[in-house]
Amino acid sequence: MDLKDRLTELKAKALSEIDTVEDLKKINEIRVNLLGKKGPITEVLRGMKDLSKEERPVVGSLANKVRDELTEAITQRREKLEIIKTARKLEKEKIDVTLPGVPVKAGQPHIIMQVIDQLEKLFLGMGYQVVDGPEVEEDHYNFEMMNLPKDHPARDMQDTFYITEQILMRTQTSPVQARTMEKHDFTKGPLKMISPGKVYRRDTDDATHSHQFHQVEGLVIDKHITMADLKGTLQIIARTVFGDEREIRLRPSYFPFTEPSVEVDVSCFKCEGKGCAVCKHTGWIEVLGAGMVHPNVLTMAGVDSEIYGGFAFGLGPDRFAMLKYGVDDIREFYLNDVRFLSQFAQKG
Ligand code: PHE
Repeated sequence: MDLKDRLTELKAKALSEIDTVEDLKKINEIRVNLLGKKGPITEVLRGMKDLSKEERPVVGSLANKVRDELTEAITQRREKLEIIKTARKLEKEKIDVTLPGVPVKAGQPHIIMQVIDQLEKLFLGMGYQVVDGPEVEEDHYNFEMMNLPKDHPARDMQDTFYITEQILMRTQTSPVQARTMEKHDFTKGPLKMISPGKVYRRDTDDATHSHQFHQVEGLVIDKHITMADLKGTLQIIARTVFGDEREIRLRPSYFPFTEPSVEVDVSCFKCEGKGCAVCKHTGWIEVLGAGMVHPNVLTMAGVDSEIYGGFAFGLGPDRFAMLKYGVDDIREFYLNDVRFLSQFAQKG
């Protein structure tokens, strides 16, 4: 058989083989066998040395053509097989998007943050600003500016963690009062602010004491602010947190930075004032401290106490949350036990 016929036959056989192969591995074998160094085409090319001068280019170009055609056929078949393979794989791995997914457990804000959020919303709605103050505070702001000079006996009750002699972990959010008053431009209008945050005291932890807890400070300074404004505001707080039926009661008290000062009780939400374990059978629960801002505090912060005055209050969201949700140990809030915390999923 001459070389040209061999090439034609070879091509026909190879093409039918390529067309019927179903396997990617096999098509690779075919390629190596047909086009490789030991393959039939190479063999034909090698035999060309025995051909006449005229025949050589004819056979040569035919051989090249056959090789190109086979290469192309192999490439196309391989692509087709690859597409089939992917399609089969997709078929097998098909996912049913209607199946229920793996549930992602949504968390919720910490219960104390929920109480703070509720108060922030309330006060923002009444035109107050929410101010942040530093937890690492200067003695100057924490005590001096709050009318608690060195050696003032009331400092003892708030003994705390000192960083240096002049720097400490703040014992109350009240220093934010002074910081905010100093910056406020009273020609532009009244100052109305709340400041929530962490405070620290060197207390021995027990069911009602934690060395770190929270406060929300409140301060209003303007002309003609009276104790009636304070009382109205306190009543709104009590009713928002503890229910619309609540009454409040003010008892005289003492804070160095307010004069007069009051302790604020709210009528018991558990027994409606009849007397129960929550209110220790008095019908009233003590919830916060407040008073009219002391003139010394105004003067020290650069506010003219002859023209301006106002009220301040300080409440404990930890205590609010304990009362509201019947939590009997403040330490629960800080143990980070999900079984405890997840009971207070926020509604809505
Ligand atoms: N800072 C006071 C405390 O920690 C609370 C308070 C604030 C009282 C503002 C009156 C006015 O006990």
